[in-house]
Amino acid sequence: MSIELDFTGRTVVVVGGTSGINRGIAELFARHGARVAVASRKQEKVADTVRALEGHGAAAMGFAADVRDLAAVEAGLSEVHAAWGDIDVLVSGAAGNFPASVNGMSANAFRSVVEIDLMGTLHVMKASFPFLRNPGACVVNISAPQAFLPMYGQAHVSAAKAGVDMITRSLAIEWGGQGIRVNSVVPGPIEGTEGMARLAPGPDAIAKVAASVPLGRLGSPEDIGHACMFLASDLGAYVSGAVLP
Ligand code: NAP
Ligand code: COA
Repeated sequence: MSIELDFTGRTVVVVGGTSGINRGIAELFARHGARVAVASRKQEKVADTVRALEGHGAAAMGFAADVRDLAAVEAGLSEVHAAWGDIDVLVSGAAGNFPASVNGMSANAFRSVVEIDLMGTLHVMKASFPFLRNPGACVVNISAPQAFLPMYGQAHVSAAKAGVDMITRSLAIEWGGQGIRVNSVVPGPIEGTEGMARLAPGPDAIAKVAASVPLGRLGSPEDIGHACMFLASDLGAYVSGAVLP
């Protein structure tokens, strides 16, 4: 069997796809023939990303929604479905992060990250299910190493992303019978991103982080896109419930 990484005719949705890693994922799928929809809170970021995707020759659309608002996510995904039909690949990666110890943040600060990362993922899963190709869809949740590696000032993110990975594993079981695969991709430190700017500001901090990576370098958004593309392609046809660091 020969396997092509060609997504022509496939519908890909990237929630949180308007900057950083997730935008890199969206652009990679666009460059490989997919029609790609992106969503995030800010309409101007959505519009800018749609233009970039079209620049790759892809059909593109987008909608503004906060993942904390289930109805808004449902409405946006419903628009995508009305335009393009069933979703083949769903990437869910909207997230918020700031460094703060538990003693240095309010309960509401902790809650806001849990609401975005964990409840947001749940909302995207619930809202998308009626629109996922059945059988055949592939869902990728974007997690983080904090899910299994405690770090100073990251308790809120650890709690939320550990929950994301357990949603992944649970839905792999619940949706597997319908031929829908669900996996998590766990980026390492990725160059030029908001996440890195917040957690490792400045060249010294970046060099220290890079030295802690087995390959000795930061990753790129495209590196993470390649992992998503492997899972979404026929190469990943028997992979579900995996958390891929
Ligand atoms: P980023 O550029 O800040 O991307 C976050 C995206 O989510 C943006 O498109 C943002 O757009 C959107 N977003 C944020 N809050 C939202 C909300 N409430 N509702 C809807 N959309 C929302 O961050 P990044 O550093 O590339 O990180 C992307 C993903 O990778 C995250 O899931 C993060 O946890 C994970 N990750 C990153 C790293 C890293 O090195 N950067 C490492 C491990 C894991 P709007 O502002 O328009 O909403
Ligand atoms: N330290 C401690 N608390 C902080 C904080 C920090 N650096 N930044 C925000 N908070 C607190 C706020 O004070 C507030 O708590 P309070 O109501 O008790 O005062 C709570 O967090 C919510 O903040 P708010 O600014 O109202 O939330 P928001 O919904 O507008 O934004 C964030 C969500 C805080 C996560 C914001 O950083 C964001 O939108 N991030 C998206 C981009 C991002 O984080 N990218 C990296 C992804 S890895």
